[in-house]
Amino acid sequence: MTGARPETTIGIFDSGVGGLTVVRALREVLPWADVVYLGDTARVPYGSKSARTVERYSLACLRFLLGYRVSLVLIACNTASATALDSVVAASPVPVIGAVGPGAQAAVQASASGHIAVIGTLATIQSRAYEAALHSLRPHTAVTSHACPLLVPLAEEGWTDGAVAEEVCRRYLEPVFESDPAIDTLVLGCTHYPLLRATIGDVARAVSGRDIAVVDSASSMAAAALAHELAPGSGSLRCFVTDATRLAELAPRFLGVPLSQFELVDL
Ligand code: DGL
Repeated sequence: MTGARPETTIGIFDSGVGGLTVVRALREVLPWADVVYLGDTARVPYGSKSARTVERYSLACLRFLLGYRVSLVLIACNTASATALDSVVAASPVPVIGAVGPGAQAAVQASASGHIAVIGTLATIQSRAYEAALHSLRPHTAVTSHACPLLVPLAEEGWTDGAVAEEVCRRYLEPVFESDPAIDTLVLGCTHYPLLRATIGDVARAVSGRDIAVVDSASSMAAAALAHELAPGSGSLRCFVTDATRLAELAPRFLGVPLSQFELVDL
């Protein structure tokens, strides 16, 4: 405790409960941080919506979090980060960390060949935000991107391994590795994909014939938060959702532990 500085609350928002993977990663590096989490579960998925709609929803999420006097905002949702980061940054009086930059940073660090694949929702892939971030970090990176819309419902159903998950991952990943056999790193550009990490890694190895580095944004976002000067709090988690359907079942898959309390809100 510094005593002199006010305690710091970190605001995190996502289209739903997938962003709890970021809360989990944040807890590992900043266990004392107070977190206010907003999952826009009434309007999930963002990944199949237009950039304009996701931008409008993201600004509503930001306004909600600012009402809780947060001093740092993390956009856990890759889709919101890919399509609305600039607007959120422009509207926010406090620093904002998106998912795309930290994910791209992790990929560049992991890749020896400079050939990187990115998978994400349709909106994330169409935005080309990962390409832009990767190229700004390492200009000649060869980027292959592929939308994998079925992976979100698979993760939510808990079908993260076994024949169905393997077949879906194979169908998505085969063309990726066929189009560029030099790919050595795969970015999981979606909150939900870390739940399928083992299957994705196995399938990537099977279709490429090599070990592939599989990276995601959650731990690099937490590391980026650590770089901000934050005064310690008590490690509280206040969780808001806009719809509570299946919350008790879904939230623990992403958070790793049962969600003890939540509050229902309208944006
Ligand atoms: N949170 C979204 C993302 O990371 C996945 C779910 C959705 O489509 O809203 O892209």
